[in-house]
Amino acid sequence: MIRLEGLGKTFGAYAAVSDLNLEVKPGEIFGFLGPNGAGKTTTVKMMTGLLRPTAGRVLVGGRDMALDPIAAKRAMGLVPDEPFVYPKLTGAEYLRFVGELYGVPLDDMRKRVPDLLEMFELTPWAGELLESYSHGMRQKLVIAGILLHEPKILVLDEPMVGLDPKSGRLVKDIFIRLAERGTAIFMCTHVLEIAEKLCDRIGIMIGGKMIACGSLEELRASSSARDGQDLESIFLSLTGGAEYSTLLKYL
Ligand SMILES: Nc1ncnc2c1ncn2[C@@H]1O[C@H](COP(=O)(O)OP(=O)(O)OP(=O)(O)O)[C@@H](O)[C@H]1O
Ligand SMILES: [Mg+2]
Repeated sequence: MIRLEGLGKTFGAYAAVSDLNLEVKPGEIFGFLGPNGAGKTTTVKMMTGLLRPTAGRVLVGGRDMALDPIAAKRAMGLVPDEPFVYPKLTGAEYLRFVGELYGVPLDDMRKRVPDLLEMFELTPWAGELLESYSHGMRQKLVIAGILLHEPKILVLDEPMVGLDPKSGRLVKDIFIRLAERGTAIFMCTHVLEIAEKLCDRIGIMIGGKMIACGSLEELRASSSARDGQDLESIFLSLTGGAEYSTLLKYL
């Protein structure tokens, strides 16, 4: 569903992403991990056609993002790292606007917009301007928006940021259910517990390179972490956790 071939992005002399190769299959939840500045958001922007790669290509459902951007974008839903919404729209107006952009038929929208508002417990605020929404409410609305056109590919950059525990649980269950129905999900996250419980495969980026990719068991085998250790230990051992103990000396 998603295929990255030799993907790269340089900003001047700095390589933010180098030679990234990856495939995400239907029904798979892929977790993209890595320290701040590793190149995750840059990858998401290239995958979704917001940033032009300096090398390689992105295929979405077999369509080349550079050659056929509208069809490629129509097949996917994106939750960016910041929940951008138009401040002067109401919650319900935002969902109808997003639905129209993606060509959702009006009859479907009449049912789905209230259902999605209800599911995310936003119905009481459906008529309020988005400038009055809290960060978490905006995040829920953006997630509701990508579910409207039922895309078969979801790309999410830190989708859990700002969600309360109940909403976080709801979003996790939504992802699991969609994956069971064949949706391919690519998700950046710093929440290792989510990567551990939700993701079929995990990729770890450092300095623009994917240094490890596989199931939790495969990552464990390729790190110096011992049997039975959790993803935090594996992550720290793969990303240079040895130096971690020296950081607190600055306190
Ligand atoms: N427009 C830009 N111009 C110059 N450098 C950029 C630009 N966008 C990103 N970078 C650089 O690319 C690198 C990767 O940034 P990116 O936002 O992809 O990191 P990230 O893995 O998403 O980090 P975080 O976990 O903090 O969200 C950083 O060093 C950043 O400074
Ligand atoms: Mg980021």
